[in-house]
Formats: sequence, structure tokens, C-alpha cells
Amino acid sequence: TYALIIAFDGPAASGKGTLASVIAQDYDLPMLDTGLIYRAVGFLRAQRGLTLEDVEQLVEIARTLDTQTLDNPELRGREAGEWASQVAALPEVREALKRFQIDFAHQPGGAVLDGRDIGTVIAPDAPVKIFVTARAEVRAHRRWLQLVKSNPDLAYEDVLADIRLRDERDSSRSSAPLSMADDAVLLDTTDLGIEAAIEHARRIVRDRR
Ligand code: C5P
Repeated sequence: TYALIIAFDGPAASGKGTLASVIAQDYDLPMLDTGLIYRAVGFLRAQRGLTLEDVEQLVEIARTLDTQTLDNPELRGREAGEWASQVAALPEVREALKRFQIDFAHQPGGAVLDGRDIGTVIAPDAPVKIFVTARAEVRAHRRWLQLVKSNPDLAYEDVLADIRLRDERDSSRSSAPLSMADDAVLLDTTDLGIEAAIEHARRIVRDRR
């Protein structure tokens, strides 16, 4: 039978992760936050004192990544996001992480994935693709609200600078840059509260599946 693959792509802090979780619950589908995988590779790179030139070792880390590593709360932090986007620009690392993501997406019962290249590279065959975006200032503000809880000195301007740097790096890299698939539906959450964004996402999935 036909498997429901739902792809959420978009820039940092667009809300795609939150929307993906809600939709995964609605349809009782397994979900994969692919950003977490890149965060884990970036985190291990830093922890082991490797540079971006140590491609062979980075590929080995990517190949042998276990799901337990993904539970580390440090992966959600600001530094890990920055490290993630650095290793994510290496085609060899992306290649090493590809099979796992493709298999996850194409499991028999269907799946929900969120990332940057799900609709374009990992599951171009997904029947439902949603490209979630919002103005950089709005995304930075949302991310700042999350991070400031554990880091009270954090300045909004610094979070905005991070977001802009990552947008730039993720959009300009030559290997699988952030881009909207031709058959994706655009969901701009700039002027939407969380509930309204969820309603929009639910409608898109209902119409497309
Ligand atoms: O989504 P999140 O902010 O956790 O992703 C962290 C970084 O991982 C992104 O900035 C991007 O560089 C990279 N990434 C990617 N492809 C994906 C998911 C994440 O390149 N599918």
C-alpha cells in the first residue's frame, strides 16, 4: 500500500520541528529530526578536537552514529547548531548520513521528517512537502525565547546574527543547499501564532495526502 511520507523543510527556527511533531502525532507516524543528526556529528567533531579537514574521521563519525547520541540535550544548544551547519556543508558527511534518512523516510508505514533537503534529496517522492519559513527577525526572537531560559545573558542580537549566518551557509553551500522543492507548499509563519500555524499545516496535509 501507499506510504505517507511527510517532508518538512525550512530554515533554522522556522517552526518546522514543532509542526512536524504535531503532524506525526496526528497520523501516528514515526518522526525524524534530521537536524539532530548533523548536530551530533558537529558536536562530536568539536568534542574530539577534529577540524573540518579531517573528512575521513568525520565520515566515520557519521557512519557509526548511534541513536543514543541523539538524546544528548547539549545538541539543542546554540553552539551545536553552528557546528552542525559547518559539517553539513561537507558533501562526504551528507553522503554518509543519507542511507539512514532515506530508509527512515521509506519505512512501510510512512514517516515524518524535518530538515533542509527532505523534499529535494531524501524523499523527493514524498506526497506531502511543506516548506516552513518566517522572517529572520521573527525566527531569531522565537529561538532567543527558547535559549534564554537556560542562558539568561544571551542577547537577541547574537541569536539573530547566528540565524543569519546559518541561513547564508545553508543556502549557499553547493551540496544540497536549502531550497524549496517545486512541488512543496509554502507555509510562512511570520504572522502566525503556533495554533494558527498548526491549523495551516494540518490543512495542507489533509489536502495533499
Ligand atoms: O534544523 P537544525 O537547526 O537542528 O539543523 C542544524 C543544521 O544542520 C542546519 O543549520 C543545517 O546546516 C544542517 N542540516 C542540514 N540538512 C538537514 C538538517 C539539518 O544540512 N536535513
